[in-house]
Amino acid sequence: MNKTRSIVLASLLASVGLMSSCNSGNMRRNPGKIYAPDMTYSRAYDAYTSNPNFADGQTSRVPIKGSIALGHDLPDHLVEGDTNAYKALTTSYRFNEAEIKEGGRLYMIYCGICHGAELDGNGPLYTSGKFAAMPANFKGEKYLAMGIGTMYAALKYGKNLMGAYSSQLNVKQRWQVIAYIKKVQSENGGAPFALGVSTATEATTLADTTQAVQH
Ligand code: HEC
Repeated sequence: MNKTRSIVLASLLASVGLMSSCNSGNMRRNPGKIYAPDMTYSRAYDAYTSNPNFADGQTSRVPIKGSIALGHDLPDHLVEGDTNAYKALTTSYRFNEAEIKEGGRLYMIYCGICHGAELDGNGPLYTSGKFAAMPANFKGEKYLAMGIGTMYAALKYGKNLMGAYSSQLNVKQRWQVIAYIKKVQSENGGAPFALGVSTATEATTLADTTQAVQH
C-alpha cells in the first residue's frame, strides 16, 4: 500500500515538474504533442518559402502562359487600337434574365455614376460638373448603333477620358454589363436584343460549357 502510494506521488510530482519546466510563467513555449508531424512540418515547399528547384527560387508559380482558369472565357486576342478587330469581336455568351439583372447591378456600380441610371449620359459625376467629358449617351443614335465588340474594347482598354474596367470586371461580367446596355437600348429604339436566352434554364455560357467538359 505504502509502495503504491509513493509511486503515484512520485509520478505526479514528475509530471508537474515536466509541465512547469516547459511552460514557465506566462510564456507558453511548448507547442504540445504533434500527432501528424507531416502536417505540422510540411514536406512540400510552402507557398512563400524559397525553392531551389526553380531558377528564380520562388515556390509560388504563375500559371503557364496560355492557360485558362476553370470557368473562365477563352482569350479575345484583341490588340489595343485595332478598331477593325474591335468591330469584328463578338461573344457566344447568352444570358438569362437573372444574369442580365446582375449586369444592371454592375452597371450601377461601375458605370452609372457617369453614364447615368437612365443610360443617357447624365450621371451625377457629369451633371455635377466634376467630370468635364460628356459620357456616351447610350440612348443616342451613335451608341444605339454601336457594336458589342466596340463596347467591349471600351471596357477593356478605356476610351479617352474613360478609364479601363478590365481589372474590376472579368470577361463574363463585361459582357453582362454590355448585355444590360443592349437590352435597355433594344427597348429604346435599338436593334432587337440578341444576347439573351428565352428561359432561365437554357442559359448556356462559355464558362458553363468549359465546366461541363471538365466534370
Ligand atoms: C468616369 C466616368 C465614366 C465611367 C465611370 C464610365 N464611363 Fe464610359 N465613357 C465615359 C466618357 C467620358 C466616354 C466618352 C469617351 C469619348 O468618346 O471620348 C465614355 C464612353 C463609353 C463608351 C463608348 C466607347 C466608344 O468607343 O466610343 C462605352 C461603350 C462606355 N463608355 C461604356 C462604359 C461602361 C459599360 C462603363 C462601366 C463599366 C463605363 N463606360 C464607365 C465616361 C465614363
